Amino acid sequence: MANISNEEFNKIRNSVNIVDVIGNYVNLEKKGKNFFGICPFHDDHTPSMSVSFEKQIYTCFVCGASGNVFTFIRDFENISFLEAVKKIADYKGITLSKTINVQKKYDKEYKAYDLALKYYKNNLNTDLGKKAKEYLLSRKINEKIIEEFDIGVSLNDNNLSKLLISKNFSEDMLLNIGLVNKNEEIYDIFRNRIMFPIHNSNGIVIGFSGRIYNNEVDSKYINTRETYIFKKGETLFNYHRAVLDAKKNKYLILCEGQMDAIRIYSSGLKNVVATMGTALTREHINLIRKLNVRVVLNMDADKAGINAALINGDLIKNAGISVSVVTLTGAKDPDEYILKYGLDAYKDAISHAISLFDFKLNYLKSNKNLNNANDLSEYINNVIDELNKSNDDILKDVTISKLSEDYNIDKNILLSKLVNTEVKKDVTVKRKVKKQNQNIRAVEEILYYMMNNVKYAKIFTKELNYIPDKNYFDLEKDIQAYIILNNTINLADFISYEINNGKEELIKNIINNHDSDIEMDESEFTNYIKIVNKWVIDSKISNLKVELKNETDINKKKELMDLITKIKRGSEEYGK
Ligand code: CTP
Ligand code: MN
Repeated sequence: MANISNEEFNKIRNSVNIVDVIGNYVNLEKKGKNFFGICPFHDDHTPSMSVSFEKQIYTCFVCGASGNVFTFIRDFENISFLEAVKKIADYKGITLSKTINVQKKYDKEYKAYDLALKYYKNNLNTDLGKKAKEYLLSRKINEKIIEEFDIGVSLNDNNLSKLLISKNFSEDMLLNIGLVNKNEEIYDIFRNRIMFPIHNSNGIVIGFSGRIYNNEVDSKYINTRETYIFKKGETLFNYHRAVLDAKKNKYLILCEGQMDAIRIYSSGLKNVVATMGTALTREHINLIRKLNVRVVLNMDADKAGINAALINGDLIKNAGISVSVVTLTGAKDPDEYILKYGLDAYKDAISHAISLFDFKLNYLKSNKNLNNANDLSEYINNVIDELNKSNDDILKDVTISKLSEDYNIDKNILLSKLVNTEVKKDVTVKRKVKKQNQNIRAVEEILYYMMNNVKYAKIFTKELNYIPDKNYFDLEKDIQAYIILNNTINLADFISYEINNGKEELIKNIINNHDSDIEMDESEFTNYIKIVNKWVIDSKISNLKVELKNETDINKKKELMDLITKIKRGSEEYGK
């Protein structure tokens, strides 16, 4: 790690409030002295992550994620610790004493992709690219759009492979990033396809999607395979271009295909991204979460698109992000819709997006004849099932009243089918209590106290000064070293220090096993010290007993027995 002092880390960490920073990514709600939100590090449905203003740390009682503001940014943004530190420093206008190089790691890979992009783009203006250009123009992808999205074409040769090799890129690297393949010789993977570059959230090209334009028998699209820099499940097409406008307009349009995203964007609605036809993942949702905006889902109009809207809608809603749904009629997807009916009609459709719940109701109604008693009863039961999945009491009341009125059904009968929400609420936030050995529990608590307050580190040195477990004892030594260096200690800053020293996991466990609802208390601490002291003595005695058993010299045996008695007596004294 670059030589950045504790002091500097701590100054930067102290310049922000963790509640505000995490609050930019996750909706936080105050409950008691802590803030709670949906944990972005596992598939969370109820708010399992708590953020402490007082301690400036976060912890998830389900998946165990915990740390300070830097580790949150690091893990959320998938960047290094130092990059996270730099991010906060930049945000607060603090200049770091050392330069932190961001993303040097994959420079070569990115250069290869950049060269490929230029090569494909150039092809489009050659004779061999004419057909592809005509195809694009016929689909109303004009020169301006081609330029903006860096669209190109791959030809039926191996010239990209040759070009990259001639520029001294290593064959292995090119194979690993999915730009070329190899039999005896390396060869181009993409052939005769219109090439759409795919960027990561920083706007760097990490893959391609290639579409056929003159050969209807091939599969319509092929994409760069999964590599260490390209993961479809972590990438949203057009994300880097959409960020600013999404924030400005406070919503993001989510569609399926890149042609849709390109059409919507170039028509003037720049706040659009595409899933590229895959299932929405937690990483996708985290990308959206970062924008802190609502989502307008605009999947294709076919059956698959409706299913995708139902599934994606639930995933987004369960992540605590508000979501509405657009259904387009008269066209199979947004691209076709805009070309057919124009931008104003599309904007109109967007502004008439309906709630996910209403979308579900429409879906449940489709293919049913509600004049038919069986169909109607099935529909009503389905709606009640949906309501029972929701925590929204107002929605329940409004829906039940409406059903009762529309279909002339006794409201009490409908209400009787609802699962009691009070019962449901009770099970939401319950701490997972891990069974743990009492000695280890006491050691962890001792260390927890020590990481929070110098006072406890002093008592430890005086009263115990030893832990019979190497990992924990090493951590204890780190704590003391930190205090000597800094004259003070707190958990949030000590975490930064331990990133260098490699005991982050151990600290995470300690934070997680600690019950933060209970205030720290000196008499509790003394109690833990007693427990560990007894552990130390017991382990000493049992070691001596082993020695005694193996000893043959009568005098030495006597010495050992005396020592054991002395220790036992001493421990009884101590216990009083
Ligand atoms: N897709 C893919 N592989 C396929 C088919 C589709 O990766 N064999 C992805 C592409 O990213 C595509 C998206 O799924 O953009 C949606 O597919 P589809 O609706 O079939 O394509 P369109 O976006 O409508 O593309 P086009 O208009 O060019 O047909
Ligand atoms: Mn299409």
